[in-house]
Amino acid sequence: MKISEIISKSEKPELYEKGTAFMWTDEHISKQLLNVHLNPDIDLASRKKSTIEKTANWILERQKKKGKLNILDLGCGPGLYTEIFANKGHYVTGIDISKNSIEYAKKSAEDKKLDITYLNKSYLEVDLESDNYDLVVMIFTDLGVLSPTERERLLVMIFRVLKKGGTFIFDVLKDREIEKKTSPKAWEVSNNGFWKESPYLALSESVLYQEEKVILFQHIIIDTEENIETYRFWTHFFSQNDVSKMLHTHNFINISFREDILPEGDMWNGNNVIFTMTTK
Ligand SMILES: C[S@@+](CC[C@H](N)C(=O)[O-])C[C@H]1O[C@@H](n2cnc3c(N)ncnc32)[C@H](O)[C@@H]1O
Repeated sequence: MKISEIISKSEKPELYEKGTAFMWTDEHISKQLLNVHLNPDIDLASRKKSTIEKTANWILERQKKKGKLNILDLGCGPGLYTEIFANKGHYVTGIDISKNSIEYAKKSAEDKKLDITYLNKSYLEVDLESDNYDLVVMIFTDLGVLSPTERERLLVMIFRVLKKGGTFIFDVLKDREIEKKTSPKAWEVSNNGFWKESPYLALSESVLYQEEKVILFQHIIIDTEENIETYRFWTHFFSQNDVSKMLHTHNFINISFREDILPEGDMWNGNNVIFTMTTK
């Protein structure tokens, strides 16, 4: 048994050290995730259906340009927002790294006769046309799980693909009482559970990097063959000031914030989340 390997993997890693596996593209996990996305009553993977509808409508109401908009949804998942936008008559492109989610989204759009373009790509690598979109959205605090280098690269891309005067709307976690947002250490034994089809032991913990306003959520998954995989989620928390500085660096203008878009609830809802709207 590779106890020394498990012990070393459980030590506090260097900030932004990657895990050994990526959750969103794993064949087994992405099937579990799709079911989670599609559950209308929970705020995991995607938010509750009622919250999604409210958010999508709020986003569209904020748009000054009349008529059909050209919209880009980064990390669109199974297309829960893209379909609302398309139903209102807009041109929509959704990008997601999960093959499973994109296949579901394509089939769903076909069944509903919605004309949506879906790309199964990483938004960190996709090649998109410049000055093309009226609106870019990135929803469910996804900007905050990228490393600062990835985030910078993505912001450069978003600025480039937006039309002049186009809008970028996204949400991030607020830096209020971060220390209360860590989770206790936990372990779980499962057979055909969330992480693997075969039996496994999951060791989960979170580590606070107070100065950088980051919490690492880490899951070490050990199977009966003694394979060990580490899934790491580097989760950033921001103040409005942090977001303003970041956007100004990338030449975005007209920055405004809302902290009342989501219903009050747990630590990941209500005014624990900052929605930002900015323009090119
Ligand atoms: C928390 S989910 C949110 C999905 C969707 N925005 C929603 O709220 O319903 C994050 C999504 O980002 C996708 N994703 C993660 N990294 C990505 C990347 N590098 N490029 C494209 N999509 C990515 C995942 O597959 C997943 O569908």
